[in-house]
Amino acid sequence: MKKYRVGVVGATGMVGQRFVSLLEAHPWFQLCVVAASARSAGKTYEEAVGSRWAMPNPMPEEAKKLIVMDASQVEAVTAQVDFVFCAVDMKKEEIKALEEAYAKAECPVVSNNSANRFTPDVPMVVPEINADHIEVIQAQRKRLGTRRGFIAVKSNCSLQSYVPALHPLREEFGLNKVLVCTYQAISGAGKTFATWPEMVDNCIPYIGGEEEKSEQEPLKLWGKVEDGQIVSASSPAITAQCLRIPVSDGHMAAVFMSFDKKPTKEEILDRWSRFEGPAQKLDLPSAPKHFLHYFEQADRPQTKLDRNLENGMAVSVGRLREDTQYDYKFVCLSHNTLRGAAGGGVLLAELLAAKGYFD
Ligand SMILES: NC(=O)c1ccc[n+]([C@@H]2O[C@H](COP(=O)([O-])OP(=O)(O)OC[C@H]3O[C@@H](n4cnc5c(N)ncnc54)[C@H](OP(=O)(O)O)[C@@H]3O)[C@@H](O)[C@H]2O)c1
Repeated sequence: MKKYRVGVVGATGMVGQRFVSLLEAHPWFQLCVVAASARSAGKTYEEAVGSRWAMPNPMPEEAKKLIVMDASQVEAVTAQVDFVFCAVDMKKEEIKALEEAYAKAECPVVSNNSANRFTPDVPMVVPEINADHIEVIQAQRKRLGTRRGFIAVKSNCSLQSYVPALHPLREEFGLNKVLVCTYQAISGAGKTFATWPEMVDNCIPYIGGEEEKSEQEPLKLWGKVEDGQIVSASSPAITAQCLRIPVSDGHMAAVFMSFDKKPTKEEILDRWSRFEGPAQKLDLPSAPKHFLHYFEQADRPQTKLDRNLENGMAVSVGRLREDTQYDYKFVCLSHNTLRGAAGGGVLLAELLAAKGYFD
């Protein structure tokens, strides 16, 4: 199979570094361009990132000597690639304009940013859950006046643990009410303990915009494509509190759920163990073999022990039990910069490639 030429826009940041790491020896994608702000442009990738390299593995040799391009030089970047990943820290309106400029230059954009998540004809996709939403790209291309260019996004990292666990129960048992508290790692803010020492021995009970995303984005994931737009689902009702805790990577969630037709505990465990989606059926290179792993031990999943399960692409679940106010409660965990960000972006790109959207 021919390899697609790929650019990473925002390559010097936390998520961008993950993309660069994941693209090393990827069977379908070849990293050709790294782009960032004018501050980094013109330097080698190694110089531009410098001491900011925060990945557990060394910087890939193929990336070190690439000269960082200015992301605003859209034509220069798009001339060298078949599509780009985008993960930039800019104002929402600037990100929207940048992503649209790439799409209009006939370059597909697979984005980690939130700016376009609620654009009605932009699919927001977790490949195991709503792969069918990519069909809305046809309507988006019509709006943008493009033949090839489009924007596809992945959802926020906070919901990447609990939506997969709720999904195989939602329709069959009529999931109607969800309460979730998330305990989120500092890499979700693009930080390490070195760059955010105030987080050592600390917990901050506020993450700007995160609770709204955690409540609303699942409803778009569970929405339907109608007349060239994605119409969000109207249920379940979701309420969320999101806390920043002192761990480097891995977002944990404590979840409470109620149903129209309350399942048995065995039925829930059965649906979790059998759940697979298009990512597994298409055998996409980054897809975990088993998306949901249930732990019987009362003290699992644990962030440090379980976040890297199946290369950080699986979701760990545990402590399912009946609740006094809701039908059931459980805990779950996913790696926020792998499954929750760059890994989820690479998996989405694999789905789009498998379905011919980059040709
Ligand atoms: N971290 C996570 O777990 C996570 C999860 C999901 C989604 N996200 C989203 O992903 C995006 C990036 O997050 P991050 O944590 O990787 O941020 P980050 O570490 O602060 O990195 C920001 C990146 O944006 C680039 N940038 C800043 N201003 C720019 C400009 N004017 N033009 C072009 N590039 C510019 C930076 O380049 P320079 O180095 O040149 O400044 C850097 O490459 C954000 O939208 C965030 O909400 C993050």
